[in-house]
Amino acid sequence: MKVLRCMDQWRELRSNMTSSVGFVPTMGALHEGHLSLLRASAEANAQTVLSIYVNATQFNDAQDFAKYPSNLEADLAKAKSAGVDVVLLPDFEQMYSDGFRFQLNENEFSNRLCGTDRPGHFTGVLTVVMKLLNLVRPNRAYFGLKDFQQYTLIKDMCETFFLATEIIGCPIVREADGLAMSSRNALLDVPARRLAGRLNTLLASAANDEQAVQSLQAADMSVAYVETVGSRRCAAVVIRSGDCAVRLIDNVAVSTSHLATELKGAVS
Ligand code: PAF
Repeated sequence: MKVLRCMDQWRELRSNMTSSVGFVPTMGALHEGHLSLLRASAEANAQTVLSIYVNATQFNDAQDFAKYPSNLEADLAKAKSAGVDVVLLPDFEQMYSDGFRFQLNENEFSNRLCGTDRPGHFTGVLTVVMKLLNLVRPNRAYFGLKDFQQYTLIKDMCETFFLATEIIGCPIVREADGLAMSSRNALLDVPARRLAGRLNTLLASAANDEQAVQSLQAADMSVAYVETVGSRRCAAVVIRSGDCAVRLIDNVAVSTSHLATELKGAVS
């Protein structure tokens, strides 16, 4: 496994690759969710490239950026065991030689759900993903469906800008109690972790979005939003862990027959 900090070296290496390249962009603190993306890539492509880059421009809160977990040594060991061929570790100067003068905005879906209370977040995400896709030029790129809004926006962006990369959404990987795997879970203390484990069940068992909000609030979670988009009920909550506030997101499939019954009731 090659570990590259210099993106000029990577471009040189990439220009000699003739077989398929799969790409998993991450911000590090790798967990089973990331590893499932890497394994999916390793299975379908001749080469798998992982990037680890904590992208400052997608954090609208400086404290959130400062406390973002990182453990490069452990990440490299996990990457190797998941079949990664190349790890890219770019820095801000290489990723943003323009000083973030050029930005990629989406003006509709990015303003809803997580965009409501994280202004600029998706501009940071889309800008860095566009840069990474141009740098890596992968045949396929893999994203977790936990970040349903991010996945949807990236897929739409690639179609809109005629990028050749196929965007693949991979299933959410969960802990035994249903908590979606996330690098932020490392920030939860024991009581906060116990509470976080109820997020998925409460979200999935509610009859509608309003009832989900009520159950989450009753369980002592601060609700940023619960909103059904298509057939996914998406939510973000904030859980107190010691003196920090940890934001968690999740989404579950809502039964369309149940929505159809509600709709029928509403129009009859
Ligand atoms: O999902 C993430 O970890 C990040 O948003 C991504 C896609 C790596 C962009 O920084």
